[in-house]
Amino acid sequence: MFGLRSQDIGIDLGTCNTLIYVQGKGIVINEPSVVAVERGTKKVMAVGADAKRMLWKTPGNIIAIRPLRDGVIADLESTEKMIRYFISKALPRYRLFKPRVVVGIPSCITEVERRAVEESAYKAGAREVMVIEESRAAAIGADIPIFEPAGHMICDIGGGTTEISVISLGGMVVTNAIRLGGDEFDEAIIKHVRGIHNLIIGEQTAERLKIEIGNASPDKTIEKVEIKGTDAITGLPRRLEMDSVEVREALKDPISQIIEEIKTTLGQTPPELAADIVERGIVMTGGGSLLKGLPKLISNETGVPVFLAERPLDCVALGAGKYFENAKGFDTTRSIYDNLNG
Ligand SMILES: Nc1ncnc2c1ncn2[C@@H]1O[C@H](COP(=O)(O)OP(=O)(O)OP(=O)(O)O)[C@@H](O)[C@H]1O
Ligand SMILES: [Mg+2]
Repeated sequence: MFGLRSQDIGIDLGTCNTLIYVQGKGIVINEPSVVAVERGTKKVMAVGADAKRMLWKTPGNIIAIRPLRDGVIADLESTEKMIRYFISKALPRYRLFKPRVVVGIPSCITEVERRAVEESAYKAGAREVMVIEESRAAAIGADIPIFEPAGHMICDIGGGTTEISVISLGGMVVTNAIRLGGDEFDEAIIKHVRGIHNLIIGEQTAERLKIEIGNASPDKTIEKVEIKGTDAITGLPRRLEMDSVEVREALKDPISQIIEEIKTTLGQTPPELAADIVERGIVMTGGGSLLKGLPKLISNETGVPVFLAERPLDCVALGAGKYFENAKGFDTTRSIYDNLNG
């Protein structure tokens, strides 16, 4: 009876996208983490996909914000409103049956920010809230047997953050998080096009270039795409043809920072667990890991096999939603934060 009444829900509170997994239903929300508010009154006009449409083309009195940009909660109030909106949309009857909520968040967020997330989920109607590291959730969502006594490495490249963890016996042995992800890939492309071609392009155009022809590893076939932007000197609109070699060049810097972080993490891993990782490989999740050729490049650079998870974009939400059932027999009441803080 109790099982019927109460549902566990998992939330991936990402800097780009928020996903909600409801036990027994699957992923019911998958929307951009964007809130549109009225200037001055701060009244929320739209959340998610509707708000994103306003992001680049907002009428004067409405501002669209990405409250979690760069892995930090830039705007607490709108983050709270966003979480509440998504939870109520996912569970229209949540007021009657309060759910248990597990939220996956980047581990580089501060204690204050973590508490804010927790509080928002309570205010949204949760009975119990648990905040866990994004990479721990990602590992569960990628079906990695993290409760085994063996080392597993997971690398989640999101929009604003990259989190690399070594997990064994359900615990985080090493975790490194940097505030760099797919958004920086876009920014690097914008900078490159401006610097080399004197053309100003928007974030959407840069993201399109990255997704359509971006490739982290050299390829025999060179792909091309035509983009439009504003000439930095004349101020007039102009077209430009970009190819995959140039996009790779533009992405070199942020990609090498991620590879450095992976190498650092491997270096911090106890030898026995490192041996497991060499054998089992690194599992990649998050939208950034979908960049063509990235797993191959990471494997070449580290000498460790690299695998892309089956559903890289869904892993955190899936893992958060399955956290309680997965961790049966383990102390799930203590997150890594509690353990760190004694
Ligand atoms: N096919 C693709 N190729 C390259 N990049 C992609 C692809 N699909 C999505 N991305 C990028 O993935 C990023 C979003 O990934 P994801 O949804 O995992 O981030 P997030 O979870 O919201 O962010 P974070 O984990 O940092 O909080 C964006 O930068 C997007 O451009
Ligand atoms: Mg994420």
